[in-house]
Amino acid sequence: MGQWSLSWGSSEHSLTLSEDGSFTAFSKEYDEHYHSTKDGALQESLLKHVLPAFKIKENQQEINILDICYGLGFNTLATLYYIKKNNLTCRVNIYSPELDGSLIDSLNGFVYPKEFDEFKQIILALSEDKVYDDESLHVEIFVGDAREYIKRFDNKFDIVYQDAFSPSANPALWTLEYFSDIKKAMKKDGILTTYSIALKTRLALYENGFNIYINSGKEFRDATVASLSELDDFLHVDMPHKISCNLHVEPLRD
Ligand SMILES: C[S@@+](CC[C@H](N)C(=O)[O-])C[C@H]1O[C@@H](n2cnc3c(N)ncnc32)[C@H](O)[C@@H]1O
Repeated sequence: MGQWSLSWGSSEHSLTLSEDGSFTAFSKEYDEHYHSTKDGALQESLLKHVLPAFKIKENQQEINILDICYGLGFNTLATLYYIKKNNLTCRVNIYSPELDGSLIDSLNGFVYPKEFDEFKQIILALSEDKVYDDESLHVEIFVGDAREYIKRFDNKFDIVYQDAFSPSANPALWTLEYFSDIKKAMKKDGILTTYSIALKTRLALYENGFNIYINSGKEFRDATVASLSELDDFLHVDMPHKISCNLHVEPLRD
């Protein structure tokens, strides 16, 4: 991992080479990297979000995804990469809020991994127009507050990539009330992926009726999959037991 002073972005961001060889960014405002530098930006997107989600949903004809938040766009682009690599024929619609419009404007100059080379036209369209459409794909970026944006949707999403900055850096996107709005925006068999394994996060999901599962693998640290229906392929977290061992734990609230 190293710090790089390239000309990309604003004085608010610096570029960091993560351990899988892909670049991520460091946010001076939030004092955090956009991805785990240890797991790697591309690997984190693929292993903590796209693979577990598509393991469950890839046989659907049409998949609606809420990508919280767009940031550098790795989760959206890794989704396109996975679809191409596996010759999937499903139609995909991705909706992604992002507060930082100047970041989106700058992404045409970002140093993406070679796996994203074939999406250059999409990266350009999203950076300039905030929307991209073709016969099998719709991607739209909403420049504004995710908390407001998610209230527009009802029973819409098959997949939610919950990838805000950490609960301590950006608590507004991890509260009980936030996940209540997320639940309303999701279909009844929708699933949510997140890198957070914090008990407070899992409790905020659990108290909204989500089942909690562990997403684990050799190449990355454990992550969480939450689902409104029951899943067979992931290890279930016994939340009543966790709560009984941590009686004072509370979910974050607005
Ligand atoms: C960890 S980064 C997202 C990383 C992204 N998924 C990626 O693959 O590059 C968190 C992002 O959330 C954005 N953000 C923070 N608060 C927000 C809010 N209330 N609504 C929308 N975006 C927000 C930040 O500007 C930042 O780009």
